[in-house]
Amino acid sequence: MAKRFNFSRRKANQFDLNEVYRQLRTNIEFMEFDDKVQAINITSTTKNEGKTTISLNLARMFAAKYQGVLLIDCDLRNPSIHKQINKSNSQGLSNILSELSENLNISYREEVFHLQFAPEENPFDVITTGTKVPNPTEVLSSNRFRKFMEIARQQYKYIIIDCPPIGYVADAIPVSNLCDGTLYVISCKEKHKKQVRNAVNDLKRTGVNILGAVLNKVDISSQKYGYGYYYGDEK
Ligand SMILES: Nc1ncnc2c1ncn2[C@@H]1O[C@H](COP(=O)(O)OP(=O)(O)OP(=O)(O)O)[C@@H](O)[C@H]1O
Ligand SMILES: [Mg+2]
Repeated sequence: MAKRFNFSRRKANQFDLNEVYRQLRTNIEFMEFDDKVQAINITSTTKNEGKTTISLNLARMFAAKYQGVLLIDCDLRNPSIHKQINKSNSQGLSNILSELSENLNISYREEVFHLQFAPEENPFDVITTGTKVPNPTEVLSSNRFRKFMEIARQQYKYIIIDCPPIGYVADAIPVSNLCDGTLYVISCKEKHKKQVRNAVNDLKRTGVNILGAVLNKVDISSQKYGYGYYYGDEK
């Protein structure tokens, strides 16, 4: 069943939740002192660790401050951003890629949704995965996708990309290689320390810049530092 992304549902945690994502945005902004961090992708070791939730919240938090934010669902095997925003996935990234041209104006494409969660925030663009493709790894490793990312970089200030988990398929690797940095989500509900280490090493071996880890699904009742969020440098 489609789940609507709904901040008001969690009124009691509203402030804390926003604060967590604001802090995450601030940490990313500070990293830009050294290198440009314009395109950021989110991955994890296994399914269900919170990648889509974090991608969407992060895009929203960047849009609260900046104009020109694009969120892309690159989890072509298990798309879910459209469910969280309650939109159709009949058209999206795969359709844009199939008609890619030099003069593509992304925001004007009919496949692109324009979302605004609060009047005081800027709207941001969202591209869902679109028509199912039989070869996700090839699509995400293609010259077309690379060209699309080049165009997106010219047209947006920040690009946030939801990726599949790295432990199952290699799809997140080519996407990570086209991004300036990767956020690695680790759910505290999983007992997968070794798999996390292996997956992070695999990413690093291919030259991926891991910006940090987001520790998700922390049991806040047992944590002294408040809401379930931790940001650490994995380098
Ligand atoms: N911090 C959190 N605390 C509790 N539940 C959470 C938290 N973050 C995400 N969830 C819930 O966990 C489930 C999985 O989240 P989400 O879809 O974001 O994960 P995912 O890593 O994108 O999953 P998939 O690998 O299937 O794409 C959802 O039901 C979501 O609401
Ligand atoms: Mg997901």
